Amino acid sequence: MLDDLDHRARQVLVNNDRGNYTIPTAGLYPYQWNWDSAFAALGFSNFDVERAWTEIETLFAGQWPDGMVPHILFHEVNEGYFPGPDIWGGIGPVPSSGITQPPVAISFARRIAIRDSHRAESRLAALYPAMLGWHRWFMRWRLDAHGAVCVTHPWEGGRDNAPDWDRAMTKIPLESAGRYHRRDTAHVAAEMRPKREDYDRYLWLVNQGRELQWNQAQLRDENPFRVADPAMTFICLRAARDLLATGTELGLEIDGLAADVRRLQEGAESLWNESINSFDSRTAGDGFNDVESSAAFLCWYAGIDQREQLKRLRIALKQVPYPIASCDPDSQQFEALRYWRGPTWAFMNYLIGIGLEEFALEDEADILREATRSLISRSGFYEYYNPLTGQAAGGGSFAWTATVWLDWAGRYEEDK
Ligand code: DGY
Repeated sequence: MLDDLDHRARQVLVNNDRGNYTIPTAGLYPYQWNWDSAFAALGFSNFDVERAWTEIETLFAGQWPDGMVPHILFHEVNEGYFPGPDIWGGIGPVPSSGITQPPVAISFARRIAIRDSHRAESRLAALYPAMLGWHRWFMRWRLDAHGAVCVTHPWEGGRDNAPDWDRAMTKIPLESAGRYHRRDTAHVAAEMRPKREDYDRYLWLVNQGRELQWNQAQLRDENPFRVADPAMTFICLRAARDLLATGTELGLEIDGLAADVRRLQEGAESLWNESINSFDSRTAGDGFNDVESSAAFLCWYAGIDQREQLKRLRIALKQVPYPIASCDPDSQQFEALRYWRGPTWAFMNYLIGIGLEEFALEDEADILREATRSLISRSGFYEYYNPLTGQAAGGGSFAWTATVWLDWAGRYEEDK
């Protein structure tokens, strides 16, 4: 008999399954989101590996000719979400947004393959050229002069209203987003979501991208928003390492990958901000933002063991009852319930936690895993949680939180 929470976690994935892709949660996010979908695939691999592969294949079916894999694929129009496909004007084979998201899908495909002894090799080999194309797109269009990976929209980093973007956001004119009707606050309380002025700027960037027909060279030169993001950089570095390992094992093309790993590693190291003793985001033209966010703790996931960051992690694990807060709780920007300005995200804990485990930092990994386990078991499969009280926040029945349970947090006893 399956444990009740295991059963409920599977049920979340099954209920969010739309056939060949999975939505993050009904209502708030009714389409296929890139990194959410990668998590859903990983979740399915715990009980239906065939379905896991289909998920990733559907995601890559939306890949643009230049290699970009969009952050949203609008398979079926849903009036409950804004901005939809017409506003984005995506130019790929499936109606889509015009930006990407952190490529956890590349690393998770490898993780799933290791689990699936039967068809893994052919499924992974068939996806490999598309994954390589996406990696090369990042290398071509998103690196800064140091080799760190930049985001061109807060939604591209996936941490929409993180304080990391505050400075770059002020460069975006507030006027002329036009009249529009937000749908997110019909699903979730407004104090848990980005503010109106954030939305105006998100839309300004979307409108600019559409008008430039998502021409990357023009966007690189004209987009006022360009920030080297530790989360994006660490996840791209991990993806490059995983591609190199897969390509080598399967005897596939690996030209330039070892050099790319070195370049991304230098880029990641360049995000070390001595003045705050932490990895930090860097706004193009302006330097470090002096923001400590949970993204900094993804260094181990990327294969970087930073001892000063470990000291910060030990503090972060004790700083709030339900770690890790997405934004430093002692900072002025901290807001316990507002999306990426404070709440704890189970999927971030997972990525941080598996990195720690790979470096045998068992004590810290255990604390984090136990904290995540207690959050989910007491508050359910939510999008995020108040780090001070453990209270559920954002959308419910969330796919990636269900995966975190099935893959890691709920297996604590078993794995010990
Ligand atoms: C949203 O609509 O809030 C999403 O985060 C965009 O990806």
